[in-house]
Amino acid sequence: MKKITFVLFLLMLSALSGFSQTVQSPNGNLSLSFKLSEAGEPVYQFSYKSKAVIRESKMGFEIKNQPALLKGFTIVETKNSEKNETWNPVWGEVKTIRNQYKELAVTLQQIAAVEPTSTTVANTDVFNSSNDALAKVPKVTRKITIRFRLFDDGLGFRYEFPEQSELKYFTVAEEKTEFNLTGDHKTFWIPGDYDSNEYAYNTSKLSEVDASKGKNVSEIAVRALIADNAMQTPLMMKSSDGLYLNIHEAALVNYPAMYLMVDRKNFGLTTHLAPNAGGSAAFLQTPAKTPWRTVIISDKAADILASKTILNLNEPTKIKDTSWIKPQKMVGVWWEMHAGVATWNYSDANNIILANTDWKSLKPNGKHGANTANVKRYIDFAAANNIDGVLVEGWNVGWEDWFGNWKEEVFDFVTPYPDFHVKELQNYAAQKKVKLIMHHETSGSASNYERRLDEAFRFMKANGYDAVKTGYVGKIVPRGEFHDGQTMVNHYNHVAQKAADYKIMVDSHESVRLTGLHRTFPNWLAAEASRGNEFNAWSVGNPPEHETILPFTRLIGGPMDYTPGIFEVKMSRYDAKKKEQVHTTLAKQLALYVTLYSPLQMAADLPENYEKRSDAFQFIRDVAVDWDDTRILEAEPGDYLTIARKAKNKDEWYLGAITDENSRMANISLDFLAPNSQYVATIYADAKDADWKENPMAYEIKSYLVNDKTALKIALANGGGAAVSLKTATGDDLKELKAY
Ligand code: NOJ
Ligand code: CA
Repeated sequence: MKKITFVLFLLMLSALSGFSQTVQSPNGNLSLSFKLSEAGEPVYQFSYKSKAVIRESKMGFEIKNQPALLKGFTIVETKNSEKNETWNPVWGEVKTIRNQYKELAVTLQQIAAVEPTSTTVANTDVFNSSNDALAKVPKVTRKITIRFRLFDDGLGFRYEFPEQSELKYFTVAEEKTEFNLTGDHKTFWIPGDYDSNEYAYNTSKLSEVDASKGKNVSEIAVRALIADNAMQTPLMMKSSDGLYLNIHEAALVNYPAMYLMVDRKNFGLTTHLAPNAGGSAAFLQTPAKTPWRTVIISDKAADILASKTILNLNEPTKIKDTSWIKPQKMVGVWWEMHAGVATWNYSDANNIILANTDWKSLKPNGKHGANTANVKRYIDFAAANNIDGVLVEGWNVGWEDWFGNWKEEVFDFVTPYPDFHVKELQNYAAQKKVKLIMHHETSGSASNYERRLDEAFRFMKANGYDAVKTGYVGKIVPRGEFHDGQTMVNHYNHVAQKAADYKIMVDSHESVRLTGLHRTFPNWLAAEASRGNEFNAWSVGNPPEHETILPFTRLIGGPMDYTPGIFEVKMSRYDAKKKEQVHTTLAKQLALYVTLYSPLQMAADLPENYEKRSDAFQFIRDVAVDWDDTRILEAEPGDYLTIARKAKNKDEWYLGAITDENSRMANISLDFLAPNSQYVATIYADAKDADWKENPMAYEIKSYLVNDKTALKIALANGGGAAVSLKTATGDDLKELKAY
């Protein structure tokens, strides 16, 4: 009864302010209203549990050489519909996902005068037939549909451009979608940049955002900062009255990535799109649609992490046979390069011309990591430790001058260095039942990669590889394009599709941040597209709070290849002069396998570092990479996070708890365990005197009997964490172990 009165009240309020359409989420918590202003501008507002979240905000576009699609609209049709279904992802954090929403689709028409100053105008032959002098002004009639979907935890809306005679081919100069917020929210942001998302997060009020700070981030080599008020999405915010909200986009297809420009006085956000080489944003042909703009909302931080709205807004996959797509763990000839003890390049030559070089005649530098013997060592380690794959970087020719020269022809993706024996390694890996993982660094030269893609994928299949890590370090070729522009968005999606055709799984680095497209391309297991663990090896690194923010920001769009699992935390191990270090304890590195979700997880450190601490490595051997269920137990962005997940098709749970630079006590009720069963909890925790800076590698491992009534209390050090495996107790366990 109360709810009905409230809804009526809302409807009344909306009507008073001229809102003609209102739609509620299935549970009634979210409410979206739409109207046209007096000037015929599309306007929406959005509330959660009767609290305004987005004040009246305008929507629309600037179109190149045509009147803007911003005002002068009339409503020609509105349609309400709803859906309630479930689906099963190929892999994921949960087994079954509910897709339940209420939808409002508003079709608008605009008849606009074509500016006499316009140079080229689509369909200028459209004249008003009356004799009136004014009516001689050419007019253009165009339609757009704005489709809103309200889920119980979020809002999605997108623009659709139906096929129509006066809007066929057009260029979006800018999208002008506003998100006018209700206060000076606490915001977790990175600077808007067309080329990089590898920044550490800033936490400030909206009024204090200063993205010009990005200029000082010299450890990111290729940057294209936008403006001092530009931020990237997913943008995570918290209001002073405890609302958590996250703005991002879903299904980024044939369109540039979106940034948010903040009005620091009025707390309004307006979209800005990454430009193409010509300076405009998107080339479209009707029928066309934009990605969904998303607002995930709750008064509980955990709900933001559990939301499936972004996945639900993506198209189901068209891949019929998905049996070849496998969540997996990998090791790799990788960290040793980042640690500086091996190189990607085979020789120290430079000024290499790919087509003219006799690689055998180059003088080896003696530090080339991807040599046959070294790769075999990793294969042996993987085979002995329940690791599915071995990534090998630096196997192919071209690394001598791969970076920083804006070259087009850097790599050919099929020619190995003289000391990397493709067939021998294929056979060796097959014997040991380990999969080699291919590496395709493009150096940002997407044009070269696209030309060679078929040959590269055929080479992979012929040599036993069915997963590839791609990379885009460098300024983009075609020159003038950006990592986040429409051309590159289409490139990443093309690579995912082409890889699917070849039954190849993809892990992309330096690509645009994810938008839930892994529903459509489940072979696109993960992306980096953010500041990964590698920054800890050779730069100021990632502050201890970094991993408590990532799940609320970058991971809202999809899995991240963060490359956790560094056991030798201090880089002075490799060179006494080095001051760099991973900004966590060792136990926190273990927790990341649970708290940073990905179906592809690297055990990133060197085999010898794991062999030295084989007891702690047991957690990495055991931990699952695909899940039936996920419980977010404790969460606060920037502070802490505790997550438990149930392994796919097994009665086994894994738990990760992490904190920022402050120590804390994780209080964990195990009530998610099956009732009337005894489990062994093996707890990998920070030792009493552990501290990320002074004593990061001190840990202790203890096992206890537990059940669904048990509450664990685990102390996390500064910058620390804990990992717990929970497995069904055997008869021996019951005899030998103590109850917690
Ligand atoms: C940057 C990637 O993030 C990293 O993982 C890789 O090793 C280098 N590029 C070289 O491709
Ligand atoms: Ca990177």
